[in-house]
Amino acid sequence: MWGGLYAQSVNLLYSCRHRVGSHFAHTKAVAPHSAACGGFFIGHSMALRANLIVEPILMNVPEAQGYLRWPEVFENDQSVQIEIGSGKGAFLVAAATQQPQCNFLGIEWARAYCNFAADRLRRRGLYNCRMVRAEALGWIQAHVATASVAAVHIYFPDPWPKLRHHKRRLIQPAFIQQVWRILEPLGKMRIVTDHPGYFSYMEETLAGCPSLRRVPFDSPLTGLDEMLVGTNFERKYAGENRPFYSLAVRKPS
Ligand SMILES: C[S@@+](CC[C@H](N)C(=O)[O-])C[C@H]1O[C@@H](n2cnc3c(N)ncnc32)[C@H](O)[C@@H]1O
Repeated sequence: MWGGLYAQSVNLLYSCRHRVGSHFAHTKAVAPHSAACGGFFIGHSMALRANLIVEPILMNVPEAQGYLRWPEVFENDQSVQIEIGSGKGAFLVAAATQQPQCNFLGIEWARAYCNFAADRLRRRGLYNCRMVRAEALGWIQAHVATASVAAVHIYFPDPWPKLRHHKRRLIQPAFIQQVWRILEPLGKMRIVTDHPGYFSYMEETLAGCPSLRRVPFDSPLTGLDEMLVGTNFERKYAGENRPFYSLAVRKPS
């Protein structure tokens, strides 16, 4: 069943319905929140169903919580990296497995993906990971302390190709400002996209924040053969022979 579920098109996941089950308290820093996903349905006609258990990976942070203290969230003193738009969690699984000495937080807006990734991370025992279901900019503004993040990863963000939709793109001046704020000195942001228009837009936007200095893109993972980050979208687009565009910027010391 899991193999079939993994193989589903992401478009089907966009149209999924789900049920949320019990509530639980996650860490000392985080209030009780809805977590367990008793059933999970994909598509309108497909009867695929899996029992997803999202605790203790999924966090629900009350708005009033303010900036989080990572040692309380992760119950360790390791550095923290954030991935925005984690999708089904392939990058987090690989990164958290390869770097158990780091903590990883995935921010994913789509509830179906978020729950799926949380369950996947839990099944692998990757307790150096957390997921939040949230819109990234607002959540970061509200909950991520200044100079508290070692790296930000953004892989295949939605390109919103139509001009009238450009305002929905994640990479905007206000977002870049927040990335600059939350990165530690020498912290890095890495981005990969398949969309040349969005890539140019990112480069222009980043030019407005010269204190994030362009550095060569280096893959955050090892053993990927010819891939850059090994996400589901990279695999899918590589199969279509699409070119990829990558960049990295670093906050000065
Ligand atoms: C094209 S998918 C890429 C998923 C994954 N990174 C990959 O490469 O397979 C983009 C993902 O970003 C999420 N997303 C888009 N905008 C977001 C935002 N503002 N905050 C959080 N997640 C967002 C979407 O829900 C979607 O899962």
